[in-house]
Amino acid sequence: MSHIITGLIGHPVAHSKSPRIHGYWHRRYGIAAEYRLFDIAPENVAPEIARVKSLGLRGFNVTVPHKITIMKFLEEVDTAAQKIGAVNTVIARDGQWLGSNTDAYGFITHLAHTLGNLAPYLPRVLILGAGGAARAAMVALMEAGAGEITITNRTHASAEALARASGARAVPWEKREAALAGITLLVNTTSLGMQGKEPLALDLQQLPPEAAVYDIVYAPLETALLRQASARGNPVVGGLGMLLYQAQRAFFLWHGITPEVDAALQQEVLAP
Ligand code: ATR
Repeated sequence: MSHIITGLIGHPVAHSKSPRIHGYWHRRYGIAAEYRLFDIAPENVAPEIARVKSLGLRGFNVTVPHKITIMKFLEEVDTAAQKIGAVNTVIARDGQWLGSNTDAYGFITHLAHTLGNLAPYLPRVLILGAGGAARAAMVALMEAGAGEITITNRTHASAEALARASGARAVPWEKREAALAGITLLVNTTSLGMQGKEPLALDLQQLPPEAAVYDIVYAPLETALLRQASARGNPVVGGLGMLLYQAQRAFFLWHGITPEVDAALQQEVLAP
């Protein structure tokens, strides 16, 4: 079997968990493939992308800061990526590059695996943040049949722009605690609460006890938001699963196998 190459382009990429995830599945499914990291600084994009193209990759993931820039190097962008406005996965077919986005799949698949029937959580959703991750969550939730979606973000103009584009409502960041009243699902897509970042200041007093709380942050695995939510009895969902399931979909797009997301994979990813 010829040696298959996939990988990740971004800047920085050294911290990425994706080589571990894909490496685990290559071994598990006996695929002779290698997942390489390509650290490409924004000023070198064009020549570096040409170099990547010459290597004949089966496909690759794309992360910050290239998720939008990459589009101009692609022959086609699928509807998932168009709706989110960003590409996180590229598939090579007959020398042509097709851009896709597996983040919405990753988000909603993990959410459904953890909560089971999503219907009780979809009527009134509050999303914290308005970046790429918020757009992926928004697309996934709308496709899943979410009712009323409210967005709140530090930079209110971004919340308003996203709300306008998707028929949602924007509320000022300062009013986020009052916006928790009546919510059925709370989704944090900001980096607040991540190791090394500022904490997320959010008192959950107004949040109904049956509302589910999702946090995209996975380092630490149990964030202060999830701990606070668990303590008052709200169902909680952590962010690691989105990482694993977006990779599952990319792996399928490259290799035609839907690899299993199991406890052993999780251990592999969390190992020091
Ligand atoms: P991603 O693509 O992962 O969503 P991003 O586009 O950089 O990353 O978005 C990060 C989100 O975290 C944004 O909603 C950002 O708010 P701004 O639009 O105001 O930048 C939010 N965020 C980051 N640091 C924050 C902070 N200290 N307080 C409040 N929100 C913050």
